[in-house]
Amino acid sequence: MATNAEEQAKQLAPSSHRHTYSPPKIAGEYKGKHIISVDQFDRNDLDMLFNATVSIRRRVRQSDRGLTEICAGKVMASLFFEASTRTDMSFQASMRRLGGEVISVSNGVQFSSMYKGENLADTIRAAGCYADAIVLRHPQVGSSYEAGYYLDFLNKNINNPTVVVSGGDGVGEHPTQALLDMFTIKDAKKELDHLTITMVGDLKHGRTVHSLAKLIAYYRPTGTKVACVAPNMLQMPENIVSMLRDLDIEVIMTDSLSDVLGDSDVLYWTRVQEERFEDIGEYQRIKDGFIILPDTLTQAPKDCILMHPLPRKHEMGTAKDHDIIDADPRSIYFQQMENGMFVRMALLAKVLKGAYV
Ligand code: NCD
Repeated sequence: MATNAEEQAKQLAPSSHRHTYSPPKIAGEYKGKHIISVDQFDRNDLDMLFNATVSIRRRVRQSDRGLTEICAGKVMASLFFEASTRTDMSFQASMRRLGGEVISVSNGVQFSSMYKGENLADTIRAAGCYADAIVLRHPQVGSSYEAGYYLDFLNKNINNPTVVVSGGDGVGEHPTQALLDMFTIKDAKKELDHLTITMVGDLKHGRTVHSLAKLIAYYRPTGTKVACVAPNMLQMPENIVSMLRDLDIEVIMTDSLSDVLGDSDVLYWTRVQEERFEDIGEYQRIKDGFIILPDTLTQAPKDCILMHPLPRKHEMGTAKDHDIIDADPRSIYFQQMENGMFVRMALLAKVLKGAYV
């Protein structure tokens, strides 16, 4: 359900720079770059980040105290205008584990000046005066482009340039989720070639699948297919499907999981995004369309992996079903969640310090 705060944020932030602002490509250099879209990444950038992530993970597991020197003295602002558990907490934990500090608006963004009528452009520049990085989650598509545009403007006027990292912009993109999802696939399957990656559920409103599908294509894997399983009205947006096909990724579109279940190396399950529906009756009609149950998993390949960005609701059945599915070694969403912190640590280290970790 959209909160009052989300509703107000939506009204307060016209995103006029969405179509005109292009975030810089990473092109081998992360330092000082905003992270707004997966369009910024190529294979080399991803390999660099994933290598750093493996190293960070090892160092966290060894309780390496040197990690806290990487972002010592740096400050990250957490600006979340939409609900979040994992993205917000993992970014905060990442920054702290790297020795940096985290700030947010006391008592939540509903007490920020946006609720006096200030627009996003000014709120983001206020945060930019105090922090080195801003993690922004906002209900409006394009809000992180808007933030990047206005921070570039601000950075010409202040001594301490600030980057924005998108934590999700409405139904648009969720670039850091795609980074952690791809890392998790590569880590579990050891490669990204010759896989069938099956995305199931609300592919229309799910920003995680938008970003992941595009990121797979940008990695340019050999022989990897993306299967989109959803009812017609919740299918993957056409512009993303054609972009994948233009980059030679085979895309299978179906409303029947049985068409692809037996061939799937990765099952990426998603929640039907109730808060994105204008007509709640439509949500009620469609919400039970794709539910994974323990029985579904018995029909899936023995070596597949089951992922989910979480949170989950009834798309994994009841709490009892959750317990059974969670106990299956193919279910790796808890590792996926933990990887989120390692990937975000690597990203913050690179963006803030250009650090080799
Ligand atoms: C997702 C999101 O917020 O887009 N969750 C997340 O960031 N881990 C998916 C969702 O809300 O369904």
